[in-house]
Amino acid sequence: MTLKMKKATSPAETARILAEVRREGLSIGLVPTMGALHEGHISLVKMSLERSDYTVVSLFVNPKQFGEGEDLDKYPRTEDRDVATLEELGCDLLFMPDRDSIYTDTDRTKVSISSLGDHLCGASRPGHFDGVLLVVAKLFNMVNPDHAFFGQKDAQQAVIIQRMAADLDFPVRIFLGPTVREADGLAMSSRNRYLTDDERNRAPRMRAGLVAAAEAITNGERDASMLKKLVTASMTEGGFEIDYVECVDGGTLQPVTSANGTILLAAAGKLGRTRLIDNIAMKVGPEGAAETLLEFPEWSRYE
Ligand code: PAJ
Repeated sequence: MTLKMKKATSPAETARILAEVRREGLSIGLVPTMGALHEGHISLVKMSLERSDYTVVSLFVNPKQFGEGEDLDKYPRTEDRDVATLEELGCDLLFMPDRDSIYTDTDRTKVSISSLGDHLCGASRPGHFDGVLLVVAKLFNMVNPDHAFFGQKDAQQAVIIQRMAADLDFPVRIFLGPTVREADGLAMSSRNRYLTDDERNRAPRMRAGLVAAAEAITNGERDASMLKKLVTASMTEGGFEIDYVECVDGGTLQPVTSANGTILLAAAGKLGRTRLIDNIAMKVGPEGAAETLLEFPEWSRYE
């Protein structure tokens, strides 16, 4: 919308800019990120630009969603390039807070969710989703967006955020964007740059395993343990240290024994020191099966 992208580093400055935007009656879209932007992030920014009059991208490497021994200290930072990318795309406001303007030493409040975080990344990264929900709730309050955009790459995160927004009545409509991939199928991720050349060559085996499972579903296989075996075999072949391979219901994120309805095949594993995740959502009906974008149940009252 605007020619020159604005940059704000404090919530107060952001509020001032957005008050003016709202006075003009413009709809606001928010794309939360941790920076090191790639085509996956860019696809969400483009979605926001299409659907919203005014697009805000937040860039904050949120310390509260990193566990001990995880990669907070070495999380890639490519700030200058990110700013240039967003400017070129036509983003209206880049909100780049520092840690102290998001968290204070007197913080006491938590945001946590039951059951949806029990499995997948919730099980292997304790506290991770509390950290994600806290920062996203804060960003929703600071920006008060009409629309917010998340990627299916982090499917569990998207489902959990959607549930939080509905449960806490954030008046925001949440959109999900499909996973953007490299030519060989590897899901784009800020963490891919950690991979050595050899690891990078083996990384697509996770996606290949998920695709093999999806094909098996298309060919009539419904047994979740058989599907998980296909994914595990491919990841093992690629030298992954497997964190989890799961087949869960797409709405409840609870493991299923048989693939029916909307299901999510999800996997996580480490190649060397780099943790990668990926998933495929499938719509499985009596008449067949097809890959699909994960659909949110009708949770929001603000659509
Ligand atoms: P980050 O990993 O930077 O991702 C920001 C957004 O981009 C998320 O919604 C994520 O799902 C999406 N994304 C990442 N890779 C993608 C890909 N290959 N294709 C499509 N979308 C992709 O996720 C986070 O940051 C943080 O947890 C955050 C939500 C910002 C809270 O701190």
